[in-house]
Amino acid sequence: MKNRLSQLIQRDGRAMFLPIDHGYFQGPTTRLEEPGKTIAPLLPYVDAIMLTRGILRSCVDPSIQKPIILRVSGGTSMARKEELDQEGITTSIREAIRLNACAVSMSIFVGSEHEHQSLLNLANLVNECEDYGIPTMAVTAVGTELGKRDARYLALACRIAAELGARVVKTYYCEEGFEKVVKGCPVPIVIAGGPKVDSEFEVFSWVYDALQKGAVGVNLGRNIWQHDYPVAMARAIRAIIHQNATPREAQEIFNSIKSGKDV
Ligand code: R5P
Repeated sequence: MKNRLSQLIQRDGRAMFLPIDHGYFQGPTTRLEEPGKTIAPLLPYVDAIMLTRGILRSCVDPSIQKPIILRVSGGTSMARKEELDQEGITTSIREAIRLNACAVSMSIFVGSEHEHQSLLNLANLVNECEDYGIPTMAVTAVGTELGKRDARYLALACRIAAELGARVVKTYYCEEGFEKVVKGCPVPIVIAGGPKVDSEFEVFSWVYDALQKGAVGVNLGRNIWQHDYPVAMARAIRAIIHQNATPREAQEIFNSIKSGKDV
């Protein structure tokens, strides 16, 4: 367990995960139509990748050395948005071990109709994975209800995930009260980015503020790989996470890489 966690959360206590699991309910998401091509230039700048077994098997070179966070929940699709909270476990622990997963991840839907089912899924997954020393990352999903991303809700969801045994929790950043979300969650928190926003500075600011308030890093996808300059985004965000760059410094790094200068 400690060995796997140390591959995910680096010696500086920080982590940069790149999720490309979106297709498990969204299908061929924009700029993730060919996941292998999307991640190839980004891999050097991330600490781990998060994806499903199907994409790992068919699109990722098995010789890559990056730790794998295997998404093991699903069974729903955007075609039935009202049922997005009804996920089950899709991948066996045996398969996770065979694929050499460093961690597994699944969504919980606190406050939704199928809350109970998703929380028991998490507890059962933790029961299985702990036997093999594999950490579980809980994804505090909000489905299409992005408005749920306030501190009170996120604190509730993150704490419950930790109580049920998640070793890492992925949540969203919120401007008001994020420090309370972190304080109430006894395991490391990483933040997602959500749908792509227009300003890269906004992304740098969230990431920076989340780290200042106690997050250990990010599990951030679309705001990197849907950007016109994904490598510049990845390198700028990496600088915030692992070199304590400020949003302004990250923007300078981004601008330099975008204009073809190296940093
Ligand atoms: C949702 O599809 C997945 O759990 C993603 O891994 C998560 O939302 C993070 O990706 P993004 O930064 O694109 O929201």
